[in-house]
Amino acid sequence: MSDAGFPVARPRRLRATVPIRRMVAGTRLHPAELVLPMFVKEGVSEPQPVASMPGVVQHTVDSLRKAANEAAEAGVGGLILFGVPAVKDARGSAGDDPDGILQQALAELRADLGDAIVIMSDTCLDEYTDHGHCGVLTPEGEVDNDATLERYASVALAQATAGSQVIAPSGMMDGQVGAIRAALDGAGFPHVPILAYSAKYASAFYGPFRDAAECAPRFGDRSSYQQDPAGPVGEALREVRLDLDEGADAVMVKPALAYLDILRQVRDAVDVPVAAYQVSGEYAMVEAAAANGWIDRDRVIMESLVAIKRAGADMILTYWATEVAKRLP
Ligand code: PBG
Repeated sequence: MSDAGFPVARPRRLRATVPIRRMVAGTRLHPAELVLPMFVKEGVSEPQPVASMPGVVQHTVDSLRKAANEAAEAGVGGLILFGVPAVKDARGSAGDDPDGILQQALAELRADLGDAIVIMSDTCLDEYTDHGHCGVLTPEGEVDNDATLERYASVALAQATAGSQVIAPSGMMDGQVGAIRAALDGAGFPHVPILAYSAKYASAFYGPFRDAAECAPRFGDRSSYQQDPAGPVGEALREVRLDLDEGADAVMVKPALAYLDILRQVRDAVDVPVAAYQVSGEYAMVEAAAANGWIDRDRVIMESLVAIKRAGADMILTYWATEVAKRLP
């Protein structure tokens, strides 16, 4: 207090005007750190809306190309592609078919966009398997870790061959980064980086994605391979460490908003770029509340992204990437 009894310290001084707030802002978003997840569906002639994700579609290859160009023009840093094949089977054959929908889309985008934007691919099997699990199954119906690694290696190779510039394994199998790294290195792709979904939780926030990628498991859930939301915090750090030991170039925490504590701890523990995935349920909640007039959509979007950045994300995967990139100064 001053002699007159007034506060000497007045934090409000630095909040008084737009320019002063802008000058002292500690967290700034940049379009280049945003990554847009995109879905491409085989055998459709028009983009298909995703009911639980208003504004998100399953693209045709053609509409994908247009939307990818729009993202690149807005300055978005990267795209991550998910394929939705016309035919699924037990081993996810479409995932490493050189003519599979994702491989077609990758080739098309690379030819069209060149180096205008980083083109990444989600490397997993759930979009391609008829049972919807992220791996192949044993006769007893368990997800077979080591047999799945062979499939991931083959899927990653098909994606790299088609032009994927970053391989992003999301299946949470033990050893997946090492298996993929070895396969890439052995086939002439030693320079293709791996962005590992390292700390990925068995989250109810993925619900709408399973409509978008048509990959809800037919039986059971993903709790035997994805992390328990209530699991030990050290588990996330261990997953990250293992992935780095296996050759991951960057790591990811997923979902984002409900796991900001994990994101911060991972950021503090590693010296590689850390990504956070603002997932489908995070998107759907905001869109639904905004559609009801219950929240200010644009402000909630920016506030949530700032929070994710402040918690330590170097890159943010968000379905709002293009819109936000256009809005940023
Ligand atoms: C698995 C994968 C999922 C997501 C990204 N990769 C689904 C899952 O693990 O069930 C979810 C993304 C989102 O919810 O936005 N290939």
